[in-house]
Amino acid sequence: MNKKRLLSCIIAASSLLGAYAQPHTFDVNTKKVGAAVQPTMYGIFFEDINYAADGGLYGELVKNRSFEFPDALMGWKAFGKFEVKNDGPFERCPHYVVLNYSGHNDTATGLQNEGYFGIGIEKDEEYRFTVWAKTVSGDANVEVSLVDESTMEEHQEFATAELKVSGNEWKKYELILKSPKTVQKANLRLLLKGKNGVALEHVSLFPKHTFKDRENGMRRDLAQALYDLHPGVFRFPGGCIVEGSSLDQRYQWKNSIGPVENRPLNGNRWLSTFNYRLFPDYYQSYGLGFYEYFLLSEDIGAEPLPVLNVGMACQFQNHNDPSAHVAVKDLQPYIQDCLDLIEFANGDVNTTWGKKRAEMGHPAPFNLKFLAVGNEQWDDLYYERLRPFVKAIKAKYPNIKLIGTSGPDSEGEMFEKGWKAMKELKADLVDEHFYRDEHWFLSHGLRYEGYDRKGPKVFAGEYACHGKGKKWNHFETSLYEAAFMTDLERNADVVDMATYAPLFAHVDGWQWRPDMIWYDNTRMFKSISYYVQQMYACNKGTNVLPLTMNGKSVAGQEGQDGLFASAVVDKKKGEIIVKVANTSDKAQDVTLNLNGLKGSRSATATTLQSDNMDAENTLDNPNLIRPVETTATCVSKKNMTVLNDKLPAKSFRMYKIK
Ligand code: AHR
Repeated sequence: MNKKRLLSCIIAASSLLGAYAQPHTFDVNTKKVGAAVQPTMYGIFFEDINYAADGGLYGELVKNRSFEFPDALMGWKAFGKFEVKNDGPFERCPHYVVLNYSGHNDTATGLQNEGYFGIGIEKDEEYRFTVWAKTVSGDANVEVSLVDESTMEEHQEFATAELKVSGNEWKKYELILKSPKTVQKANLRLLLKGKNGVALEHVSLFPKHTFKDRENGMRRDLAQALYDLHPGVFRFPGGCIVEGSSLDQRYQWKNSIGPVENRPLNGNRWLSTFNYRLFPDYYQSYGLGFYEYFLLSEDIGAEPLPVLNVGMACQFQNHNDPSAHVAVKDLQPYIQDCLDLIEFANGDVNTTWGKKRAEMGHPAPFNLKFLAVGNEQWDDLYYERLRPFVKAIKAKYPNIKLIGTSGPDSEGEMFEKGWKAMKELKADLVDEHFYRDEHWFLSHGLRYEGYDRKGPKVFAGEYACHGKGKKWNHFETSLYEAAFMTDLERNADVVDMATYAPLFAHVDGWQWRPDMIWYDNTRMFKSISYYVQQMYACNKGTNVLPLTMNGKSVAGQEGQDGLFASAVVDKKKGEIIVKVANTSDKAQDVTLNLNGLKGSRSATATTLQSDNMDAENTLDNPNLIRPVETTATCVSKKNMTVLNDKLPAKSFRMYKIK
């Protein structure tokens, strides 16, 4: 190499190095307040998958409490002289069990329930046992106990009470059991005492202390975790269970309201979806039904967003076979379900369905504003069915915002076709789903910049980063979700809602992962993705602020140098909030110029970080990775406020400036 060439190489290299060493500059224009961030922006998606409802959020601890599973005694051990009958007091749940004296003093008659992967019992907690019962001959006695089968001791019972049943009319009985210890996998045992038989129906056990102490309520720790997310919207009840494997298994909201004892059992399509995760005892009791969903929305401060069936069974499972779905001409009952649901939620107490809501304990309307029709449907089969729904619902309830779906693809021909159809049908929002890998999340930093601002709004209704080859909640995927979400935030003028999915998973009963919150029978942990969602949801601000990165209008499709960012102002709290994800593997100097602000100010920096990309929170180490808050300093410089920082490699940091 000649001298001249060498010199120019050195100059080029040093200027490159110089540029490299420059801090990345984020300019935030605090005076140019942009689009409003919708209160619904970050929400939650609930589906009874992974034992999220029965065996999860729903507080009931007894499995198959009404003996309605196809195998009436599934979940139960029955011993001695017993009989299953089907002329019980509840029309839609007719089965019950009769226990009779076995004729031998040393042979017990009874029933024992295994719960969902055992029954989780906590020390010093009280449990409400209820049962519908009647005598068969004279007054009868039943010993009700919590037992710990893991001990081989003679006395496995650790909480016991005596139930006295009198009269041959069905009545509801109640007992309180208090536990002296914590047992992860207890059973509920019922033993007939004496010679008089007894009939038992709807055998139930709830922690007395549920979320908000509601009877038929929610598991406290799990519901509290939802509350702590401050979700703006609560989508329920799914997911594919809205469709069912076949239409007779679709979620029917009308079956999920009224007295719990008379809510018919439904199958759960996640029972055998994956042959490596088979759960033959996975059914839907509907104990957590639409009334409870609305109530929970209210309790956690989220807008309810029910999803109803559009007359279609799961298209995946039916190979898109048209005959699996209701003919367009026969859709009226499905359309009526939507209209009736709106009346159930919002109608006056004198209306047919508003009256039912009032009878269940909530005379005030639930103030429903959104309704989705169809979960994850695609192609003309869907569009031609959705049309009459839109027409009928908009005619009667023009203010209800209707949500259609662009189907399971995150882009491509069918996705485009879906969006086009939703525009033509004038859906208010379009539900997009994207369970994609690391590369996708990192390369979609500008997904929403190009969206039509005049069309329907976006509801990113199901998404999560699924790591290639390791589909669980490790740090890396959560970091990429955080990076991607800057794009949701910058485009709050077109994105109205986003809900990570799925929400819950029982460690012994999952079918799908990653999931946001995991639990066993007594413990839970929040995934790192939970904390990402929480950082966004609790700090969504009220309006977007324009942000440039190194003088360019936005972050770039793949960020700049692995950096992704967004900025909002919270006008109510008087805060500027800037979120930055550093997805690169080097620490990076950043300068945050807050144009329009003056003087030095106090600030905080909240960080999610790990050096181990595979690190994850677990039941045994639930707090391994969680946001850590420190103070930051903003100085006054050239007539504006400036924050200088070094962003750790692979980190997500949120600055809050007063
Ligand atoms: O979230 C799990 C499933 O993913 C949902 O049931 C369905 O809508 C999607 O395919």
